[in-house]
Amino acid sequence: MLASPFAVETIDRQQNLIVTRPQTGFCLRGRIRIPGDKSISHRALMLGALATGETQIQGLLLGEDPRSTASCFRAMGAEISELNTDLVRVKGIGLGQLQEPADVLDAGNSGTTIRLMLGILASHPERFFTVTGDSSLRSRPMSRVVKPLQQMEAQIWGRKGNSLAPLAIQGQNLKPIHYQSPIASAQVKSCILLAGLMTEGKTTVTEPALSRDHSERMLQAFGAQLSVDPQTHSVTVTGPAQLQGQQVVVPGDISSAAFWLVAGAIVPDSELVIENVGVNPTRTGILAALEMMGADIQLENQRVVAGEPVADLRVRSGGLKACTIAGDLIPRLIDEIPILAVAAVFASGTTIIRDAAELRVKESDRLAAMATELNRMGAKVTELPDGLEITGGTALRGTEVDSYTDHRIAMSLAIAALNASGTTTISRAEAAAISYPDFIPTLQQVCQ
Ligand code: S3P
Repeated sequence: MLASPFAVETIDRQQNLIVTRPQTGFCLRGRIRIPGDKSISHRALMLGALATGETQIQGLLLGEDPRSTASCFRAMGAEISELNTDLVRVKGIGLGQLQEPADVLDAGNSGTTIRLMLGILASHPERFFTVTGDSSLRSRPMSRVVKPLQQMEAQIWGRKGNSLAPLAIQGQNLKPIHYQSPIASAQVKSCILLAGLMTEGKTTVTEPALSRDHSERMLQAFGAQLSVDPQTHSVTVTGPAQLQGQQVVVPGDISSAAFWLVAGAIVPDSELVIENVGVNPTRTGILAALEMMGADIQLENQRVVAGEPVADLRVRSGGLKACTIAGDLIPRLIDEIPILAVAAVFASGTTIIRDAAELRVKESDRLAAMATELNRMGAKVTELPDGLEITGGTALRGTEVDSYTDHRIAMSLAIAALNASGTTTISRAEAAAISYPDFIPTLQQVCQ
């Protein structure tokens, strides 16, 4: 057996992940179970807290982000049992019944927590809330949700013209609106729909392209009156709604599976099976992109679990070719662009990624981060205002790179390091725990 190619060094609570690629006989094999879907985990905790009766959640993601959601809703009176993957029980307190928290709500690093929660808080009359997050979240734009909520007559204050957290919210009875969102964002769509739950009348959101639809699916399952027009990408909720606690089974997160799909495709002689992956069509852009690149990926054992399509994904290594990723495909793979950039480095030809300016306002500026760090390793990546141009086929060499404290950058660089010569050190790799606490043990598992 080969010596483990990984080491972790912890200095002052920051982790350096050190990856040394063995010179011979290195490939990836095995069956992997990935953690629960982050988007579905947040929504299950939130709707569970707002519903009447008990919600039981199986397969919840135990990452830092859902922990932030759970602690915010506990602070407002929801009873949420200790978080684990087997079974989490949420005793809902009923729509409109959240208590005014005695302290600031802390969303940590989680954009989904703060943006979805804003719609809920703004529509709770006679309560005052303050919300903040870590330094990354406090620099991310909140006007995309504050502005439509203000159109609904919400009262929200914050730094830089009410666009940055910390934010203060005086809950109100809101007015229904039809919001034409300028961006295809599930966070914006979900925020407005959640505000619409408590608002008398019909609240509609129309988006330019379809973003992930987990809110729509789960709101319907919890009993909200919702209508969807797939032609115009519009969703309408009729309030006031009544939500009833449900059993939620969270599928594996395709955004976490993406790291293994690319690893299995680029490391020669590899074959991996990733079990129990959510393959909701609004999330499978990564499969479409890798298919365009010629990757060998098969969907096995396809089934529907608690309203979400699920499959096991088998990936075998093979030559990849460049492709163009743009337009309506972008919202379907928005979180997978960093790892797709890694795939493009190992593909023949020049891959173009466009229409992805949103990546500049994620947990880090992901376009700048991936271009800078992959180029440090010897790749040929050019930043475009709204994307990346990546010329594949240059060999990567290990060096020191940084995660920018962004979970998806940390994990994407770790996968790039598997195909780089020598030793790569990824600093601040502890960020992976935001969405994938077991990423490093799984890396060790598949490399043995
Ligand atoms: C998410 C939506 C996406 C995604 C984020 C999770 C969600 O953000 O990037 O990681 O759970 O709704 P946008 O909707 O803002 O693109």
